[in-house]
Amino acid sequence: MITPSYSPSEMRYDHGMKYRRCGRSGVLLPEISLGFWHNFGDVNTLANSRAMAHYAFDHGITHFDLANNYGPSYGSAEETFGQLMEKSFRPYRDELFISSKAGYDMWPGPYGNWGSRKYLMASLDQSLKRMKLDYVDLFYSHRYDPETPLEETLQALVDIVRQGKALYVGISRWPVEATDFACRYLREHDTPCLIYQGKYNLLDREPEQQGILKQVKEQGAGFIAFSPLAQGLLTGRYLNGIPSDSRIARDTTLKRETLTADMQARIKALNEIAARRGQTLAEMSLAWLLKDELVTSVIIGASSVAQLEDNLKAVANTSFGTEELEEIQRILL
Ligand SMILES: NC(=O)c1ccc[n+]([C@@H]2O[C@H](COP(=O)([O-])OP(=O)(O)OC[C@H]3O[C@@H](n4cnc5c(N)ncnc54)[C@H](OP(=O)(O)O)[C@@H]3O)[C@@H](O)[C@H]2O)c1
Repeated sequence: MITPSYSPSEMRYDHGMKYRRCGRSGVLLPEISLGFWHNFGDVNTLANSRAMAHYAFDHGITHFDLANNYGPSYGSAEETFGQLMEKSFRPYRDELFISSKAGYDMWPGPYGNWGSRKYLMASLDQSLKRMKLDYVDLFYSHRYDPETPLEETLQALVDIVRQGKALYVGISRWPVEATDFACRYLREHDTPCLIYQGKYNLLDREPEQQGILKQVKEQGAGFIAFSPLAQGLLTGRYLNGIPSDSRIARDTTLKRETLTADMQARIKALNEIAARRGQTLAEMSLAWLLKDELVTSVIIGASSVAQLEDNLKAVANTSFGTEELEEIQRILL
């Protein structure tokens, strides 16, 4: 039987999702966004990808985050999104905020990687075709390129907006000084940096420690946290070992050696605090990020609707007592 066309929930904005203003812009992003890095590639079933995307949109997740090379294979997460666009989301395009990126290896040869104008322009054209979109809402330079003049990368972002292929631009994983330069350059060229995307979670505090969080606020940009659950470590997934269908079992971007005895002890201790708060560890880990108004949104990954369901509950309680925060801090030291 052909899957019937999608009718999103009429209650999609009534399930408790909150929206935060992204820096000094007109854009509001959901506190929880959905990333397509894993579990939406051509190695995954379309049925599960579709179920997760529908569930997300039905519960107020309006922001989907992609990149040219998400999959595996490279490009296939964008292709999956293109199928969802055709079959489900086309009538709701204006309710969605879609991002893509270029910066990592995508195709062979000298023009399929890093930060040249040649690469960024060609890559976005390919992404738009795969995603069956005329424009993305947000296009990122996926990483800082120490070899290409920053002006070249940034001017490509400016021109992409002027061509109407993206409404906004952002940067991801750029170091502090280059971020400052990027924000100034983009503002002076009438294309302010909308958002900075960086890895931030209870176990990885770099944006806080290196001052990126404060810096981007001063520059008028938002901050969106990727891998907010440390790829699954900050959930119940590994409390009792390594499930065979988990990311660690696949041993690709999350290695087995990460789950040391010490890590397991910390996760268990954090889980006890979460239980006292009436939350799962995943909920508490997301809530901990969202307690900070400098964080515009967190981009979660998920491999099932059940995980999404769990994670979405995080927005219900994002406040922490001082003692709770101190206890969490002691576990992480
Ligand atoms: N800018 C960049 O360079 C960059 C880099 C990385 C990621 N990102 C973005 O950030 C997004 C999220 O990254 P991520 O996938 O690493 O995020 P994450 O939310 O830290 O980890 C997601 C994984 O955690 C597990 N999980 C999630 N919720 C769970 C729950 N409630 N209970 C148990 N396990 C749960 C699942 O693992 P299992 O698969 O084991 O079930 C899931 O695939 C990406 O999709 C991408 O959009 C950007």
